[in-house]
Amino acid sequence: MKKKILNILRKSKDEYISGERLSEELGITRAGIWKHIKSLKEAGYVIESISNRGYKLVSTPDIIDGEEILPLLTTKYIGRNFIHFDEVDSTNVQCRRECSNNPIEGMVVAAEEQTSGKGRLGRSWISPKGTGIWMSIVLKPNISPMVAPRATLIGAAAVYTALKEMGISVGIKWPNDIVINGKKICGILTEMNAEIERVNYVIMGIGINVNMESFPDELKEKATSLKNELGNEVDRKKLVANILNNFEMFYEDFKNTGDISRVIEICREGSLLINKEVRVINGNNEVICTVIDIDDEGELIVKHKDGTINRVISGEVSVRGIYGYI
Ligand code: BTN
Repeated sequence: MKKKILNILRKSKDEYISGERLSEELGITRAGIWKHIKSLKEAGYVIESISNRGYKLVSTPDIIDGEEILPLLTTKYIGRNFIHFDEVDSTNVQCRRECSNNPIEGMVVAAEEQTSGKGRLGRSWISPKGTGIWMSIVLKPNISPMVAPRATLIGAAAVYTALKEMGISVGIKWPNDIVINGKKICGILTEMNAEIERVNYVIMGIGINVNMESFPDELKEKATSLKNELGNEVDRKKLVANILNNFEMFYEDFKNTGDISRVIEICREGSLLINKEVRVINGNNEVICTVIDIDDEGELIVKHKDGTINRVISGEVSVRGIYGYI
C-alpha cells in the first residue's frame, strides 16, 4: 500500500493530492491513508500535508532501495530484481546465498552498510553506513570461465561512464579501480561459480566511496571519497541507477559472445596506466615494466626493460605505480 501511495505522489510531482482521492483510488479509509503517510514520514520521506489540499511528496530518503532505484532505471533486466539491506556482512556473500536457490540474471543486492566487506586478494573493504554504494550484480553470461574476468572491465566502464555523465571526471586503473586525484574511490570484486566449461553465474561487487568524510590512517594515502575530492555530496541513488543503466548496455554485447570491444575503448580512454612505468606484483614476485596498451581481450600489454612484451592477466596480480598506489 505504501508503495502505491508513493507512486501516486511521485506522479503528481508538485501538485497536492487529497486524502479523499487517495482513499478512493486505493480503496482504503482516509485514516488508513494517514497511517501509511505517517510511516512513510518515519522512514525519511518528507511529505507535506495541508488541510483541504492534501499531500505532496517533497523529498525522498537517501536510501538505495528498490523503491528509490527502480523509477530511475531504463534497463530490461539489470536491477529489476533489487534486494536492499540496511546491514549485511557482504553483498557478494549475500548474493551467493541468494543464488544457491536460483541465480537470477541482473539481480542486485545493495546494502547501506557491510560489516565484512570483501576486497580483492583477500583484503577487506570498509563500508560505513549510508555513505557509499555497496552493491553486487548477478550475471549469467553464456561464456567460457576463461573469459569471465573480462566482466570486471564492464563494471569499470559502467562506473566511469556513469560518473562522466554526472560531470565527474575520473580515471580507470586497470582492471578494477576507479581513481580521482590519484586516490581510489571505487573497487570491483568479480567472483564466479563455474564448472570446467560453463559459468553458472558471476557476482560482480562494486564498492564506491561516495560521501564518506574520513578514512582509517592506513588508507588515507591511497583512498578517498567523491565528497572529499569534489567538496559536495553526490546523489547515491542517481549514481546507482546510472551505473546499472550503462552496465546493461555494455553487458549485452558480452553476454553471448564475450565481446567487450566497446568497453575496451572506454578503458583505454580512461586509462591511468597506459604509457606509465608500473610495478606488477604477483605474490612475492615484483617486476617493473611500462604499460603499452590494453588489448582487445582486456589484458594489459607491458614492455619489459629488455624489450620483451608480455600480457598481464588480471586476477592474481596487483599493479602499482613506481612509488605508490598510482
Ligand atoms: C577491491 O578493490 O579490492 C574490490 C572491492 C570491492 C568492494 C565491493 S563493495 C560491494 C561488494 N561486496 C563486497 O563484500 N565487496 C564488493
